[in-house]
Amino acid sequence: MPLITTHDKIFELQAGETLLEGLERTGHEVEYQCRSGYCGSCRVKILQGRAGYATLPLAFVAPGEILPCCCTVTEDIMLDCRIRRREPDLFDQDLFDAENAPESTSGGER
Ligand code: FES
Repeated sequence: MPLITTHDKIFELQAGETLLEGLERTGHEVEYQCRSGYCGSCRVKILQGRAGYATLPLAFVAPGEILPCCCTVTEDIMLDCRIRRREPDLFDQDLFDAENAPESTSGGER
């Protein structure tokens, strides 16, 4: 199976897996909507190697770009893609947990 190289990782595409699924499995940041070549939102720049299509997608694909949802990868390729960075979520923390609440700096004793 072909090796996929991105800015952050090298991984092997698994049998029966689309490139989009492989990128998602390995934690990459890829947009998508239709997952079938219609919308073009999964468009990614290909930096090295080539990918083809079993049937031409309806979405516009500029030279040097591929649609990971529907392309066919038969050789090692390099993509302009990065691992998804997790933004801190305000709601990860229980804001009403009195035991772990930060000390108050206003009012109180002097
Ligand atoms: S997700 Fe719509 S073209 Fe790939």
